Amino acid sequence: MDKMIVKSGKQLFGEVTVSGAKNAALPILFSTLLADGKHFLKNVPRLKDIDSTLELLKSLGCEYEWIDSNSLTITVHKPKSLEAHYDLVRKMRASFLCLGPLLAKYGEAVVSLPGGCAIGARPINLHLDAMKGLGAEITLEEGYAKAKINGRLKGSTFLFETSTVGGTENILMAASLAEGETIIENAAKEPEVVDLANYLIAMGAKITGHGTSIIKVQGVEYLKPSEHSIMADRIEAGTLLIAGAITGGEVIVKGCSYSNYESLILKMQESGFKIDFSHSEPIVKVYPAKSWKGVDITTAPHPLFPTDLQAQFMSLMAVAEGTSVITETVFENRFMHVQELVRLGADITPKSRVAVVRGKVNGLTAAPVMATDLRASACLVLAGLVAEGETVVSRIYHLDRGYENLEGKLQTLGAQIKRAP
Ligand code: EPZ
Repeated sequence: MDKMIVKSGKQLFGEVTVSGAKNAALPILFSTLLADGKHFLKNVPRLKDIDSTLELLKSLGCEYEWIDSNSLTITVHKPKSLEAHYDLVRKMRASFLCLGPLLAKYGEAVVSLPGGCAIGARPINLHLDAMKGLGAEITLEEGYAKAKINGRLKGSTFLFETSTVGGTENILMAASLAEGETIIENAAKEPEVVDLANYLIAMGAKITGHGTSIIKVQGVEYLKPSEHSIMADRIEAGTLLIAGAITGGEVIVKGCSYSNYESLILKMQESGFKIDFSHSEPIVKVYPAKSWKGVDITTAPHPLFPTDLQAQFMSLMAVAEGTSVITETVFENRFMHVQELVRLGADITPKSRVAVVRGKVNGLTAAPVMATDLRASACLVLAGLVAEGETVVSRIYHLDRGYENLEGKLQTLGAQIKRAP
């Protein structure tokens, strides 16, 4: 099924519960390589990227079994090979997260360089520098990064020149089994890094400071498998909240604490939406609004506005009153959804990393559009909910990488959306 057909005209109403976070589940799946034996993971979203990761872990000798729709066990043994092959890494760049665990556990790792992707060059130089910081020898040969250390990695202090989620996750996993203390400076503070740290601690790692820019790790000799429930997906939660808002509906998003997407909620309130949230329950409610005003956003590392919600927020601004200036500081090419929104009648002028959005209060008009990447797919589905007529979003396989049954969730809220071949 390659297309999503979205009809406009319905205000969304009701409650929806978000799935487990893709960007927490992926590093946690790779972290199982650090501990032989059977791991038990719950609230794992059923996504193509999860399947790709399980395929890679299987190629490294792991066995997995789905216990129910979102719970699985992974049994880890000493891998038959220490190589993450290009065919697998090419499909999903997060596969590079097997570098730290394999190197720390077995003193060696051969991981294909991930290559670029639609939203930017996405180099992994900082991952490699971090491994060198722990004493590893790295060589780049024929498109592969070959990492090696005799004996254990050695704890040290490492400063990231750029905040990197994956880089922080790779060194966090590697440092867990290194000899001595590792201090990670300018560490990423994303909630998904915290969820990974929590699972590493459950396996016996000694970690403090996760969620802040200074993380300290006291290396241990071994870790043991444990169990964990993956945190809720804050990007899906934000996407669903915007779906309620853009249709002028009333939607309650359950499962994700407001603090994990507070930067979006504050911007939506600034735009004029009434939003309730609880400090004790993971429940956020957006109320119907007839109109809202354009507000400026600049994406940046957590807790500032997440780059993964930039495209979705742009759809909301495309039908706001007034102008919004959207600045993308994390990735150099994350405006490919702009031209597709323009096909729906949006008035947007992209210039390098800044897009000026002039809101069209008389709305958008349906047209065939093409998804270019995961979050662009979600942005076009959201725009289709309000573009007069029937919008057909092609290449919807991008959406399936990161959203579990998004159309089903939107249908429960009253959206007229379905897949087509
Ligand atoms: C993670 O990617 C997420 N993916 C991305 O989500 C998210 O957009 C990104 O973090 C930023 O929040 C997963 O967690 C699987 P980075 P990651 O390293 O780790 C530069 C989605 O839609 N950089 O924090 O790859 C890099 O080019 C995806 O779910 C280097 O220069 O992102 C970028 O400009 C998209 N050298 C910036 O850092 C490096 O070695 C932030 O990237 C590493 C990164």
